Amino acid sequence: MRVLALESSCDETSAAVISGTAQSPRLESLVILSQDVHRIFGGVVPEIASREHLTAVVPVTRQALADAGRTLDDVDAIAVTHAPGLVGALLVGVSYAKALAAARGLPVLGVHHMEGHLFATALEHPEATPPFTALLVSGGHTLIIDVADWGSYRLLGRTRDDAAGEAFDKTAKLLGLPYPGGRHIEALAAEGDPSRFRFPRPMLHGGQRPGDGDYYDVSFSGLKTAVLLAVRASDDLARDRPHLARGFQDALVETLVTKTVRAAEVEGRRRIVLGGGVACNRTLAAAMQAAADRLGARVFAPTPRLATDNAAMIGAAALFRLARGERHDATLNAHATLPMPGLVDATTSPR
Ligand code: KG4
Ligand code: ZN
Repeated sequence: MRVLALESSCDETSAAVISGTAQSPRLESLVILSQDVHRIFGGVVPEIASREHLTAVVPVTRQALADAGRTLDDVDAIAVTHAPGLVGALLVGVSYAKALAAARGLPVLGVHHMEGHLFATALEHPEATPPFTALLVSGGHTLIIDVADWGSYRLLGRTRDDAAGEAFDKTAKLLGLPYPGGRHIEALAAEGDPSRFRFPRPMLHGGQRPGDGDYYDVSFSGLKTAVLLAVRASDDLARDRPHLARGFQDALVETLVTKTVRAAEVEGRRRIVLGGGVACNRTLAAAMQAAADRLGARVFAPTPRLATDNAAMIGAAALFRLARGERHDATLNAHATLPMPGLVDATTSPR
């Protein structure tokens, strides 16, 4: 089975050719075009994102086929992100995928973007396969998921307000750093003194027990406010910036690490898989591995190319679902929000 996969849910236009099986995928090509224009506005402008996808989707797809040394004649199915994301941006990929499928008589499959992130790491680390504990941290989502098997997901924890990437981006803005700010905060924090600012660890305290509503959930809006107050109180922001970045990152990382390792321990998992743009953060991966050592667990993080939005992960998830006989038809639509297939809430569906 060879799949042409497309991703256009936010500000990356991406296409990939992938073949093989979900257990043993072969990435033949991956093209990612990042929309730089949003930097001017300090955030993704949905209308502009849609227009940029429209311009890019055909050449990006052609390039992915060319890089793989393939044509549409070699493709068995088209996969496309159909949710969640910016609906206008998603529509570009979905419409193009449906048109290609109709013209070529090929099956089309809509893939959930967050399920794609779950599959990304396995493309680089063949051992990053179920069962594992997943931490998905992107600009829009923060999820701790127990992955018993591909397609079998239990949601243990999530953010009650800001996503981890959103917290990085908003804090970066407060510190006058460019958008998207995650990697700038990480670089600045490396020069920061960890003892200068100690920010609250949101929803983290020793009295929590498994079964408590806040045992795995996180919340980052208070942390962002704490940084804002510290920025306002600073009499020399240029001097304090690295220390503020360090204090923020330490609080966020400790929270994510503690909650994720709790999940691995309770579920008895020996593998922790990171995904989403914030998984680019080396400090997070290193802290996660240090904490996971206690359980004898291994942490797998994708390289930035596969951590951030890309079509390879959509193709990898599609290989799994297509092999199960799943298909969509011309009624496939784009959805800003949609539950992830196979995901149940752990509080209502205990193991
Ligand atoms: O998964 P992604 O590419 O797009 C979404 O689906 O949201 O994630 C983008 C997010 C941004 O918030 C960005 O600031 C963050 O990933 N990010 C990082 C780092 N690199 C990217 N956050 C922390 N540290 C990094 N090194
Ligand atoms: Zn994403």
